[in-house]
Amino acid sequence: MIDLHCHILPNLDDGPTSLDMALEMVRVALADGITITAATPHGRTSRSVSWVYSVDLVQQRIATLRDALAAADLPLTIVPGTEIFYESDVPERIKAGELLTYGNSRTILLEFGNDILVTMLEQAVFAVQLAGYRVLIAHPERIKVVQDNPNVLIPLIERGALLQLTADALTGSQGKRIQRLAETLVSHALVQVMASDAHGPHVRRMPLLAEARRQAANLIGDAAATAMVHDTPIAILADLPIDPPSPEPIQSRWKFW
Ligand SMILES: [Fe+2]
Repeated sequence: MIDLHCHILPNLDDGPTSLDMALEMVRVALADGITITAATPHGRTSRSVSWVYSVDLVQQRIATLRDALAAADLPLTIVPGTEIFYESDVPERIKAGELLTYGNSRTILLEFGNDILVTMLEQAVFAVQLAGYRVLIAHPERIKVVQDNPNVLIPLIERGALLQLTADALTGSQGKRIQRLAETLVSHALVQVMASDAHGPHVRRMPLLAEARRQAANLIGDAAATAMVHDTPIAILADLPIDPPSPEPIQSRWKFW
């Protein structure tokens, strides 16, 4: 499996605070069946004063982690990435090389504030796409307008955006309400990727995908569940075309609260 959202690099953001802690995350991921992890530290924003970020720094930390993996004989492949918080200058900053896409691809992991409005969401995705990039939107289950009406994701999907559900939202670690939303997003093809968004080896979100994949398979079948943690992530990293299942609008009256 491939984990496209993981805070695995030490001492950059709110992820692990030591190389040992990062290596423990690697062991947990490998034991779960993950073979490729994208290191996606938070990109610096006007609000994240305590986090450090630069493309050079991320590349240095990845090199250090890869050396440690080789020394410890841990066969996890690390791919560079960044969790980019959307601000209006993001398209220019990506083009200028100040923010990383996934590996050598044209796809970025884009995060929005939970209180973003639908029109802003659509405009932001469109602006990034217009700049020539594919968008993977991080944890849509946290966005208030999605919680209120998951169908707001449909125009984004029809426009080529991809959505990344957090694995432990589906397994219930974030509570029943979020789990029901996650199940609805999966069963209506409103999300195309599952990733851990792990921040540590044992606390908060952990680098695990297997249980979420199993639960997704119960909802949508084995092949479609595997696509979310393998086939689609591979296509993202390789810049291959992706033709996800068509989203099914939720017809019944939806109530999150
Ligand atoms: Fe994250």
